[in-house]
Amino acid sequence: MTKVTYHSPTGSDVTLDVPPGVSIMQAAVKGGVDGILADCGGQRQCATCHVYVPEQYADQLPPMSEDEDDMLEITACERTDRSRLSCQLVMNDDIDHIDVELPEHQR
Ligand code: FES
Repeated sequence: MTKVTYHSPTGSDVTLDVPPGVSIMQAAVKGGVDGILADCGGQRQCATCHVYVPEQYADQLPPMSEDEDDMLEITACERTDRSRLSCQLVMNDDIDHIDVELPEHQR
């Protein structure tokens, strides 16, 4: 189980326990976290699950695919070096805790 903390730009943070095999997006939608829309349901077709991942967690995450890289070009908020699609960030037991920052908006 991974503890994922979603940091909102408004300062309201939410921490969820995310089982292995579940993405950061799926957990957010199920847990009612504001700021993750996930319009395409995780098919890498919407970029409304955009999050910023602090650099210290980058090595623990699955590598970015070409499709994810392409979709990050159409995020509503600025793409940075820390940008990822949360639907592609599937948790596993090797990750104890991770913080993600939510963008100001997804559309
Ligand atoms: S949920 Fe649509 S790209 Fe992630």
